[in-house]
Amino acid sequence: MKKALITGVTGQDGSYLAELLLSEGYEVYGLVRRKSRLDFGNLEGTEAKEKVNFIFGDITDMSAMVNAVKESDPDEVYNLAAQSFVAQSFREPVASANITGVAAANILEAIRTVKPEAKYYQASTSEMFGGCIEDQGDNFTGYTEKSFFHPRSPYGVAKLYAHWITRNYRESYDMFACSGILFNHESERRGHEFVTRKITDAAARIHLGLLDHLELGNMDAKRDWGHSKDYVRAMWLMLRREAPEDFVIASGETHTVREFVELSFKALGTEIEWHGSGADETGTDKVTGKTIVKINPKFYRPAEVDLLLGNAEKAEKLLGWKREISFSQLVEGMVKNDLELLKKEAGKI
Ligand code: NAP
Ligand code: GDD
Repeated sequence: MKKALITGVTGQDGSYLAELLLSEGYEVYGLVRRKSRLDFGNLEGTEAKEKVNFIFGDITDMSAMVNAVKESDPDEVYNLAAQSFVAQSFREPVASANITGVAAANILEAIRTVKPEAKYYQASTSEMFGGCIEDQGDNFTGYTEKSFFHPRSPYGVAKLYAHWITRNYRESYDMFACSGILFNHESERRGHEFVTRKITDAAARIHLGLLDHLELGNMDAKRDWGHSKDYVRAMWLMLRREAPEDFVIASGETHTVREFVELSFKALGTEIEWHGSGADETGTDKVTGKTIVKINPKFYRPAEVDLLLGNAEKAEKLLGWKREISFSQLVEGMVKNDLELLKKEAGKI
């Protein structure tokens, strides 16, 4: 029986990855940080929660990571823990650097000293490409493993450190250490602060009469969105390989935040009409004329990543990876899930 250690097991990806590895017959260990109120995040209420062996520790603490590797004796380590919200990284750049960046060295060093033959996966991100679009020329077909990096947030800068230290351990110590450069991926388990979940939750609330309108920042930003379930499968496939290599994982499509809003409301039978531009733009219900979307500049970021588009050709070829959940299925699934959750909640009152 293979053994895997997952940091960030309570998060969106960690919970799906734990389920996948359990279904593949792994013994799964999950790192959980101590909180004043014990909770297991996205694992709460799942069968996986009963099967995962929890180890308490914080990735910023080197000794905790040495203990975690000793206790789990893993064949594979997936480092998914991070302060993963880009907007928050502008408000806490140093904590983000320590958790999202430097802590990767704690884990790599723990593996190197305790179990150097364990395979290591680092959760790298398309946010590292950030503003490098200008370097790509006119016929841009998506970022690849060979594209330049130009992070535009403290989160992106921190992730770049973790990405390079992973590569450095691979080159210096011949360790199986690799990174998946994953583009945005969402799901019914996505945190409510991210734009997709914020939109699907608000659309469902407006539909049920529980919210007046949705407030957003930059609706022109474009993202390459996929489903987390498809993306955690790619992580696992990367560690199935004989030799470590980095892979871009993406859907190959890009959509604006505005399109995500339109599709979410459409899933509930509401068509939106847009009026004005910039901070004065509003979206109204085409039938009732009521304003249901407004811009609030407080959601603008000090520096924005305007466009993300990935090219996952290498992963498709070498890993046999393919996404199974389309953009429209993703949006519709998230809206439907939020509607059900809210209806259930209302039933309790
Ligand atoms: P998420 O839902 O925010 O989960 C983050 C996890 O990290 C949570 O389990 C959290 O625990 C844990 N964590 C945070 N700080 C920690 C610390 N100091 N010590 C131990 N654990 C800590 O993120 P996600 O969407 O699943 O993403 C997983 C990873 O992929 C992250 O590294 C993210 O940056 C990266 N990534 C995500 C995407 C995406 O679009 N989702 C794309 C590219 C890369 P608590 O439950 O205690 O908060
Ligand atoms: N969160 C949020 N809230 N974003 C908004 C809003 C809003 O009200 N209005 C517009 N946006 C825009 C943001 O400015 C950004 O351009 C886009 O929506 C997506 O924002 P997020 O959903 O917060 O995700 P992100 O792209 O910044 O970061 C996510 O993807 C990265 C991969 O590219 C996170 O999951 C990161 O952890 C991940 O690495």
